[in-house]
Amino acid sequence: MNVQSDPNLQSDLIYFDHAATSFPKPAAVNEAIADLLQGGAVSPGRSGFDLGRELGQLVDGVRAQLDRFFANPADDPNRTVFCANATDAINLALGGLCQPGDHVVATVMDHNAVLRPLWMLREAGTISFDLAPADANGFVDPADVAALLRPETRLVIMTHASNVCGAIQPVSAVGALCRERGIPFLVDAAQSAGLLPVDMGAIGCDLVAFTGHKSLLGPTGIGGLVIGPDVDLAATRWGGTGVRSAQRAHLAEYPFRLEAGTLNTVGIVGLGAGLSWVQAKGADALRQQETNLADRLLAGVADHPGLIVQGFTGEETTTLGPRRLPVVSLTVADKEPETVGMFLDADWNIAVRTGLQCAPLAHEALGTAPLGTVRFGFGPFNTLEQVDRAVAALRHIAG
Ligand SMILES: Cc1ncc(COP(=O)(O)O)c(C=O)c1O
Repeated sequence: MNVQSDPNLQSDLIYFDHAATSFPKPAAVNEAIADLLQGGAVSPGRSGFDLGRELGQLVDGVRAQLDRFFANPADDPNRTVFCANATDAINLALGGLCQPGDHVVATVMDHNAVLRPLWMLREAGTISFDLAPADANGFVDPADVAALLRPETRLVIMTHASNVCGAIQPVSAVGALCRERGIPFLVDAAQSAGLLPVDMGAIGCDLVAFTGHKSLLGPTGIGGLVIGPDVDLAATRWGGTGVRSAQRAHLAEYPFRLEAGTLNTVGIVGLGAGLSWVQAKGADALRQQETNLADRLLAGVADHPGLIVQGFTGEETTTLGPRRLPVVSLTVADKEPETVGMFLDADWNIAVRTGLQCAPLAHEALGTAPLGTVRFGFGPFNTLEQVDRAVAALRHIAG
């Protein structure tokens, strides 16, 4: 598939799958990646030849940029380690923190990136876990998290914002109660980074898992874990680091402790360019811009009885309000989400995500399991005209 070069696809593709991954990327991201590939995507390092040293500095520059972005109170960029994505970062945190017998608390709003590692660790007999419930709009009550904490609770995990309905979770309140009890707290910022401040000090969290390819506007295959000053993770994979090669054991210091093998320099440089673009525009402004698009969709479908926006029980459905990121899930009466997605794609060239979106328990909370929803995620290059076309398409499909 080559969307760029196929005029039929490229010219009028309307892409609303930004909650899965953002597309297109800012030109600066494409250019940074192309420049690196053409100009010197060599092995980055602290020793050796100039080009390698320069690339090593570039990588560390992005590390420092991310450290500042997430306001890690450790104030040590080396405690930001690069991973393949948020899933990888969450696995790294769980593997590096949990010992046999430990207990973990997460929530039903979490993505399979959290739920499946927990499930697999429980199946292996390593940990036990409990999930805090959510209300019918996808919001978790911190009191429900507090009620699940036990003396052996080793970690609390919470997604910052739902990838199904955009519900922003009360991470600061959960951070405060974790602080009180000395329990490490991991925030899954896959959806929020780039749209909401993810300030580790203000939230009171110890770990942030992020992914580069959503609202940070980088390429796929790059993400990371930010490690606060009060936790330490054991390494669960080992290998080459490019320094002190004669040493038998894997290096104990960050970032090497948790980074083994050649880094994804292309992804890191692309992520750095994406983050710079986001910072230049301002996350608040980008959120507002995308919220306006979501609001246009909500207003456009509100009066149609066959178009049901999910996650707004008891609330006005014509605007996201302050408690949601620009992710809208809806269903169409008498039509399966998958069928609606197929019509949107085939007849209107509109890309959305249908089904359970890797968050099956969130759909149970919202009452949209097992078929899920039609999900619209908005990005910085979507326009009001595109939203109007989606509204027309939905109204046509709903009849
Ligand atoms: C809330 C949430 N957490 C985690 C992930 C996993 O991100 P990645 O696929 O980049 O690892 C996603 C991606 O869909 C997500 O929406």
